Amino acid sequence: MKLSARKILLCVSGGIAAYKAIDLVSRLTKSGAEVKTLMTDGALEFIKPVNFSAITRGSVHSSLFSDADPIPHINLADWADLMVVAPATANVMAKAAQGISDDLLSATMLAHNKPILFVPAMNVHMFENPATQSNIKVLQERGHLILEPDTGMLACGYTGKGKFPPVEEILWAISLYLSHKQDLKGIRVLLTAGACVENIDPMRCITNRSSGKMGLALARALYLRGADLTLVHAQMDFPVPYYLRRAIKAESAAEMNTAVLANAKDQDWIVMCAAVSDFTPKAPAQEKIKKGSDIILDLVQTTDILACLGREKTSEQILIGFAAETSDLITNAKAKLEKKNLDMIAANHLGVAGKNETSLNLISASGNKTLQGDKFSVALELIDEIKSYYDKETDGSNA
Ligand code: CTP
Repeated sequence: MKLSARKILLCVSGGIAAYKAIDLVSRLTKSGAEVKTLMTDGALEFIKPVNFSAITRGSVHSSLFSDADPIPHINLADWADLMVVAPATANVMAKAAQGISDDLLSATMLAHNKPILFVPAMNVHMFENPATQSNIKVLQERGHLILEPDTGMLACGYTGKGKFPPVEEILWAISLYLSHKQDLKGIRVLLTAGACVENIDPMRCITNRSSGKMGLALARALYLRGADLTLVHAQMDFPVPYYLRRAIKAESAAEMNTAVLANAKDQDWIVMCAAVSDFTPKAPAQEKIKKGSDIILDLVQTTDILACLGREKTSEQILIGFAAETSDLITNAKAKLEKKNLDMIAANHLGVAGKNETSLNLISASGNKTLQGDKFSVALELIDEIKSYYDKETDGSNA
């Protein structure tokens, strides 16, 4: 992920997760971002400013009145492309929601005229307290962005929601919020991802080389842009992001068919990114097949899920397929676009499987476009294309 020359004001408030902000600042700096750090008095109780000054090669701001700059809150607020409050305590979000301005962080938040990314981390009861939840709601209604906490064992001993998210997820969110708004609110999307697995016997299987990276990039981008997302996924090399609550595991083509058809109704967009098996063993063995002689695998074709969806598509629904090819990319993809009654198809050479970068040929009735770069950037561009197609199809009522 590249954040070259983007100006990020990392604001660290006083929670036990403050030490995790050191990893975040390091990753941000390595990705090319220009980072300044602001620490609250609470954060100074947990960690020392030198952790940040050494990594960013810059000073750390913590006071309204004893900073080298006479008006640090105004100059920091104006300087930043994005303010990231990580960890964000309940107190900091309460101050932001109420417009209280009694220290450097709260004054800077008030002076910053762009959406702020809050990364809350705290005890589960503090997070779930109606006071905190209503402050979060106020901040969201004002256009600020809350990356919800992870769930698990917390430093306080409780298990529940309140964990500081994996740094990788915060980086995805920063990258997205620097370039996009939450422009997909109210749009229902069904996305499939990963490589289907067909059993030969309880141990052996047939699968393919899809890693799920492109599907996961799309899932992250759709969720962070505010879509109402359902993910149906087969085998993937990476875990499903913790914040995707509607993630349904469907390993085989038959399981995926059932899960997709059960969830297809009422979806605005269906994006079939999964590498669905075209063939499955006719009669998988219930016991492990013992070696001793050669065997012949009797394979039968699976149901083409996308073709079924294409037949049942409503006029309000748009359908996007993927095409993985080894040759005649455009010709083969165009044939699939027409045969399966799709609105768009994203075609790529099989060589991109498992890689971080990709090159997609996006084909629709109106023409072709090439999208190239890391899979997250390509996912964002692909979503832009789908969104503008969708806005046109629905006469701009979703624009
Ligand atoms: N697909 C599907 N059900 C299948 C096979 C594929 O829904 N049984 C979907 C994939 O998710 C993808 C699109 O159809 O969005 C095209 O998949 P691809 O494997 O490229 O092509 P196929 O239609 O399977 O044809 P072929 O493998 O012969 O190229």
